[in-house]
Amino acid sequence: MSKSLDKEVELFSSSIAEDSQLYLYDLWGSAAHSRMLEKIGLLTSHEGYSLRQGLRAIKQEIEEGRIAFSGFEDIHSLIEARLRELQGEVGEKLHTARSRNDQIVLDEKLFLREEIINIVERIHNLQKALLAKAQENLTLVMPGFTHLQPAQPVLFAHHLLAYFSMTKRDVARLMDNLERVNTLPLGAGALAGTSIPIDRFYVAKLLAFPSVQDNSMDVVSDRDFILEFLGNVALLFIHLSRMGEEIVLWSSPAFHFIEIDDSFTTGSSIMPQKKNPDVAELIRGKTGEVISSWISLATTLKGLPLTYNRDLQQDKPPLFRSIKEVKASLRIAARLIENIRPIKEEMEKALRDGFLTATDFCEYLVTKGVPFRKAHQMVGELVKQLASRGASFRELTPSDLSPFSDFLDQDFIPYLEEKTSVERKASFGSSSPWEIERQLREATQWIAEQEEAINSLRKEWHESFERVLMRESAE
Ligand code: ARG
Repeated sequence: MSKSLDKEVELFSSSIAEDSQLYLYDLWGSAAHSRMLEKIGLLTSHEGYSLRQGLRAIKQEIEEGRIAFSGFEDIHSLIEARLRELQGEVGEKLHTARSRNDQIVLDEKLFLREEIINIVERIHNLQKALLAKAQENLTLVMPGFTHLQPAQPVLFAHHLLAYFSMTKRDVARLMDNLERVNTLPLGAGALAGTSIPIDRFYVAKLLAFPSVQDNSMDVVSDRDFILEFLGNVALLFIHLSRMGEEIVLWSSPAFHFIEIDDSFTTGSSIMPQKKNPDVAELIRGKTGEVISSWISLATTLKGLPLTYNRDLQQDKPPLFRSIKEVKASLRIAARLIENIRPIKEEMEKALRDGFLTATDFCEYLVTKGVPFRKAHQMVGELVKQLASRGASFRELTPSDLSPFSDFLDQDFIPYLEEKTSVERKASFGSSSPWEIERQLREATQWIAEQEEAINSLRKEWHESFERVLMRESAE
């Protein structure tokens, strides 16, 4: 190149404001690369040591705020330039058989695999809050809804555990995503690989990647592992948003099923009586931003020819934005659940108003040999009559029940009570107290197993970081 870069172009094309967050991963990956170059004889052990000494010094300088990021195109250029300044000519050897095109993917993968674990850990904390709230309210019955119309009595704990089940799948999706993140990209070079006999499997071992990506052109072209992650986070956020929506509804005086602690609500600057559920609303509100992150990267990727194109640099803003939002929302969502108190009397009032045990009545008739469709029609008629005179099942008279007289026994009365309605539920996954206890037990055990798996990954990665970058003489 004959001319130096136009200042405005430099500013326009720089990604350092974003990718400076990746400095630790760039240093860690560079240290592994230097150890591999040493192993294949391209660096002496003295040169390798000197490079890593420089990388450690840069780590310290960054952490002490002694490095100005501005003026560099990206974190890779900054670290390489500083290495040259600190360690002299050997600094120019580090980039052998490496390109920023594979380097950035490595940094992103090292970063993202840890963030996936961090997010999963926060999902577990939210789940623990849900389980604790369910455990505290094991026998509390509330109306369950379909079409937002009162439908059947359910346990409040059952409703909370529905969010456990959703977020359990979110964890499964993220852990599956991790398998595709946790595979080594480095060694692809710019796009075609290299004539230098590098040992990618050795680098994978050093960095605790269980496998090596097998097509160099794919490595530098694709960001599917990020797009997949953004899709998974968007879906997780959709679950959080629905939970937020329910908290908004339940805390509204129109429902009044829960009270949110004062420390988690805000007042109005004009209406003194207001207690607003802002935290739940904001979780719901931030969902759009995260969904749009997926759309943003999908749009960036969709028309790109192989292999690397600078457009790919735009993967970072949506990635970092989503991680920041999801971590903050998960944390506050767990605390929000801790700060809600169900209001039993209001739930009971709502249960009384809506003929919620009409289905139980039908099921009773079925046990007495009435075909379900017929039972449905008979109970429907009864409900219509009662409603027309403003009565509930509690005000049933013998004449209301006369069409049923052939089928009713002494055991009929409890069938209309909401509490016994949930107690009679017998199917797997239903709202019965025994089923909820089973779900709670299994959920607690599942979280413990997951936590163990996560801790062992975290330990493995931490050891790699220490062995590869921080310590010498480890081999
Ligand atoms: N900042 C770039 C990115 O994020 C790193 C790779 C740059 N490669 C290049 N040939 N300019 O994608």
